Amino acid sequence: MQEKKIELSFILAHLSELSAQEQQLVANAKAAFKTAYAPYSGFLVGASVLLENGEVINGSNQENVAYPSGLCAERVALFYAGAKFPDVKINTVAISVLSKNFEVKDVISPCGACRQVMAEYEDKQHRPIKVILHSPTDEVLITNRVEDLLPFMFKSPLLKQH
Ligand code: THU
Repeated sequence: MQEKKIELSFILAHLSELSAQEQQLVANAKAAFKTAYAPYSGFLVGASVLLENGEVINGSNQENVAYPSGLCAERVALFYAGAKFPDVKINTVAISVLSKNFEVKDVISPCGACRQVMAEYEDKQHRPIKVILHSPTDEVLITNRVEDLLPFMFKSPLLKQH
């Protein structure tokens, strides 16, 4: 028997400390949450995906009265990026939130399913994806790779058709 440890790394910063391009990406994510369709939760999420070719794809959460039929903002944006630019790598994903019902002070970390989807794209492109989580108080938590958000992601090379 052997105990092993893994190290995760993340950066805490204020929005103003980010590069102009990253601040713009966060501004896009903030604009995106205004397009959320969230009549059930009142929880608005915006995700903005910066691609290697400079394109930016925005998404917001889309809810449904049959609750599980809805989709998180991150997956709306990532799947659209994957569908529109299937061969273009993803540089950065910025995520911003606003709740209509309560005060959100901290950054909100993406749900497990969205992490799995981000991790799949990171694995596919053989290059890390930077994730910027933005709080309503302009604090940001940054991971330089999705693996830091989802260690032990589900992957099976055997399932991939070559
Ligand atoms: N939501 C997201 O859009 N992204 C996440 O990572 C977590 C949750 C959405 C789903 C639902 O519309 C609302 O937030 C409340 O769960």
